[in-house]
Amino acid sequence: MPMEYAKKVPQKFEKVDSISRQDARQEIDKLREAIHYHDWRYYIENDPVISDEAYDRLLNRLQELEAAFPELQDDNSPTSRVGSEPVGALRKRQHVTLMQSLQAALERKKIEDLDTIVRKKAGGDDCVYMVEPKFDGLSVELVYTGGELEYAATRGDGRTGEDISNNARTVKSIPLKLSGNGAIPHKLAVRGELFMTKSGFQELNRQRIANNQGPFANPRNAAAGTVRQLDAGRVAGLPLDMYCYELLDISDKEPSTHAETLDYLHDLGLKTNTLRKLCTTIDEFEAFRNEMEEKREQIDYDIDGVVAKVNDRALRKKLGTRDRYPRWAFAWKFPPRQEITRLYDIVVQVGRTGILTPVALLEPVDIGGVTISRATLHNADEVHRKDIRVGDYVRVARAGDVIPEVVRRVPEKGLKRSKPFAMPEKCPSCGDTILHEGAYHVCPAGLSCRAQLAGRLHHFASRAALNIESLGDKTVQQLVERTMVTDLADLFALEVDDLTQLDLYAEKSANDLYTEIQESKNPPLDRFIYALGIRLVGEHLSRILASHFGTFDAVRSATASQLSSIREIGDESAHSVADFFKDKRNNSTIDRMLEFGVRPRDADTQQSQKLQNATIAITGELESFSRREAGEAVESRGGRATSSVSNNTDYVVAGRNPGSKLDQARDHNVKVIDEKEFEKLLEGGA
Ligand code: IVH
Repeated sequence: MPMEYAKKVPQKFEKVDSISRQDARQEIDKLREAIHYHDWRYYIENDPVISDEAYDRLLNRLQELEAAFPELQDDNSPTSRVGSEPVGALRKRQHVTLMQSLQAALERKKIEDLDTIVRKKAGGDDCVYMVEPKFDGLSVELVYTGGELEYAATRGDGRTGEDISNNARTVKSIPLKLSGNGAIPHKLAVRGELFMTKSGFQELNRQRIANNQGPFANPRNAAAGTVRQLDAGRVAGLPLDMYCYELLDISDKEPSTHAETLDYLHDLGLKTNTLRKLCTTIDEFEAFRNEMEEKREQIDYDIDGVVAKVNDRALRKKLGTRDRYPRWAFAWKFPPRQEITRLYDIVVQVGRTGILTPVALLEPVDIGGVTISRATLHNADEVHRKDIRVGDYVRVARAGDVIPEVVRRVPEKGLKRSKPFAMPEKCPSCGDTILHEGAYHVCPAGLSCRAQLAGRLHHFASRAALNIESLGDKTVQQLVERTMVTDLADLFALEVDDLTQLDLYAEKSANDLYTEIQESKNPPLDRFIYALGIRLVGEHLSRILASHFGTFDAVRSATASQLSSIREIGDESAHSVADFFKDKRNNSTIDRMLEFGVRPRDADTQQSQKLQNATIAITGELESFSRREAGEAVESRGGRATSSVSNNTDYVVAGRNPGSKLDQARDHNVKVIDEKEFEKLLEGGA
């Protein structure tokens, strides 16, 4: 029988409360099968056959049925892609077979030597290699039993790794169930590489910076850091991806070559890389290596070399293993984008949020075609951990578009070393006393610290803040350098005459800039809050503050405990906001802005307060909202939209064909409202 929902997805499904458990089980099975199939089409084959809306209908229906029949839940249901309950610690997993390392070389000579060993063992037989890129991610084991993902584990020490199953289930290119036309083996263990895409990594770092969180150094660290988290809900949606490249164990007969293995893994629904080639000579291997090195920048994941693997699995067995490496595979690494140079000074930079960053000044060195003369040392703890001092020789790396960093010290015999580095006690820019916050040193002077000013001004004018488009980087620099702006508020005191003194870009006149600044005086409240650059307050939190308090005065005078009583606001952010508005200098800046006529527009809180902290469950079909829109409407007004009914539920909205939630509402004595009443509630008039 052909699979249901493979091409067509009904607009509406049968009422949940009129479905028997037996029918629900059948429908759940069909939905899961269909969603697994569509995930495969989308994430592995890159060739979806239904629209996103149709896919959402399937997933919503499955969620609805699983909520109504909780006993039919399953760890490998597609609904687990959104994450599961946080765990206390990651459990250990013993690998089914040793997860070995790869021999690696940089020079052709060494590669030739490794090839010679292989050819000797092969005797007179042909020796064919499969060559593949060498991914720069995390080696992971996936174990499938009865066709279902049993667990995923990190490589660890090669024998034992950490169980990351809950997090792996959120990675859409890892199938939760094997598929395909052929027989599915009872047991299958594969090895592959989990990584973060380069584009996704850039976006993630942009968000982290906008939320005043520290950025990850490179995609590898980002993948390693996120995939070992204890809360899978925070992993869901991250740009993680995985390619499978080795068979570790199989209960069926194993394919006789690696080429067949990769095709077989692909047929089972696993994601394999199509960048691969069969070679018979080292010249061909070198050509592939050069081609990949050239393509490297265009590929959306980091690779650090290429791998050659003996294609014939019987020959692999004959070759066997040496220490920690098999003899049948070797990597030809790209020259590291790292060089050794001398560090002649460490300066301390003050960022826009006041965080002090030690920066290494280096004797200029060419790394992969780019001259590097500065590199970040991250923070004082890092400098001490790596024991880096002025005058040392250091290894400097440049990974992708990421800022260069000092990787480690390179000890040099006979070199007389200077004293250990110490962070300054006073801000190098404004002289204020530096505070210690976790791993960070922070200048508390806020908006009146000159070094923070340029960064703050830049942020203040940025698109998501006051959006003063003509106020670019160069203009900001000039305003600060010429002391025309010594405090954010000065921006609003600038006259056309002042601005004509600046070297502006040709197309932007002083008049334009002046007009834009004046027009920015009435920003929406949330943008104004965001523009202030309060530590830990990104765009999202700014919107929550605006819709909760409504007026700038109310936000400004909120106490830390009032702030932390808001559901989405944690203690640390609450204190950050309260401290910001307690600071005398921040207050004088804000007061001056108000004097110059800055008036943030009040946010509409009538609606939001109406739903503040209200929990609303929606059941059945609504006429003017999709399920998602209804949820968003509730959340944007400060409420919480849930899929199940409990004693904490305030309202159940019943649309057409309401499901079992209606009965649950009656059981829990929850008020049931219809769509009209729901609309009134959203408008704030219920
Ligand atoms: S095969 C023993 N294939 O490189 C051979 N490994 O530096 C099994 N790696 O820990 C591994 N790309 O995580 C293989 N195409 C590829 C690979 C690959 C990256 C990793 C692997 C290993 C590391 C060793």
